[in-house]
Amino acid sequence: MNRAIWLSAVSSLLLITCTGKAPGGGSPGAFRPGEIWPDTEGNPINAHGGGVLYQDGVYYWYGEIKSGETRLPVKNKTWTGTRVQAGGVSCYSSTDLVRWNNEGVALPPVADDPGHDLYPGNVIERPKVVYNESTRQYVMWMHIDSEDYSAARAGVAVSDNPVGLFVYRGSIRPDGSMSRDMTLFKDDDGRAYLVYASENNATLHISLLSPDYLSPGGTFIRVFEKRSREAPAVFKYGGRYFIVSSGCTGWDPNEAEYAVADSMLGTWTVRGNPCQGPDRDKTYFSQSTFVLAVADIPGAFIFMADRWDKQNLPDSRYVWLPLRIQGDTLSIAWRDSWDLTAFKE
Ligand code: GAL
Repeated sequence: MNRAIWLSAVSSLLLITCTGKAPGGGSPGAFRPGEIWPDTEGNPINAHGGGVLYQDGVYYWYGEIKSGETRLPVKNKTWTGTRVQAGGVSCYSSTDLVRWNNEGVALPPVADDPGHDLYPGNVIERPKVVYNESTRQYVMWMHIDSEDYSAARAGVAVSDNPVGLFVYRGSIRPDGSMSRDMTLFKDDDGRAYLVYASENNATLHISLLSPDYLSPGGTFIRVFEKRSREAPAVFKYGGRYFIVSSGCTGWDPNEAEYAVADSMLGTWTVRGNPCQGPDRDKTYFSQSTFVLAVADIPGAFIFMADRWDKQNLPDSRYVWLPLRIQGDTLSIAWRDSWDLTAFKE
């Protein structure tokens, strides 16, 4: 390091230490939607299409590992379904939601078996994890697919430890149905649900899982029939259940929509787009993946979304924004930079 660079590095460090401010402005503990988000080692967080589990005071963020070259397989040309090799599922941990430690690969791909679901030439997307109190296992479900997305399956893996390694148990077509974009939701009563885009993405299914969360329990409902909703994110507040979802336009952004119900298997009422202000019709150029309940701040939820870059998928960014709930009305507004004090405004 030459002297000028060294001096500049030291003065930046002093600036942060003395003032609590990062050189670009804003506090170091801030969310900056759409910007590169470094982990605690300074590497961009690689956890796309992800979800967060809160367990014993720690948040665990699981997501798709996207690295390497972005290419467009011939079979996906008509819908610009670009791909990178599936890199498995990452896990990061945090206690403040801003600083994330890389816990490594929670579910590695299987590079030496082209017939395996986790072969890098296949699709491993939208992993979500819940904890099963009775089996004491962490259960991960994910979207498993062939390169051209024609297999449309859901895969499941388990671990005794939140950071893995997870052991892959195989994939199914849940309830005998196609399954692509998906999420998991665990209710206060311990029941867990697999929510997946089915019927060739035309209709969403909500399926009650077996008590061990490892398979569908046989009860499911069809919702938003023929409305082509995907990227579902589910949460519960004030005794009501909410689903935020996107339209189906591949990697391109579109308008979000939410719906509300009194029970997971009940009647869902579509309420419209929760996003406000400029670019609300494109979800601020992002797509829903999860809604995170902030521990210790009742009613504080974070809308988590992916800003996909279909030409360079590893450079896809994260858009996390505060979600406001008034009665059964949701609203999301853009912020360049924010922190958890936003929930006290
Ligand atoms: C989107 C989906 C993403 C990914 C992408 C592939 O519709 O939400 O998770 O599958 O298509 O083009």
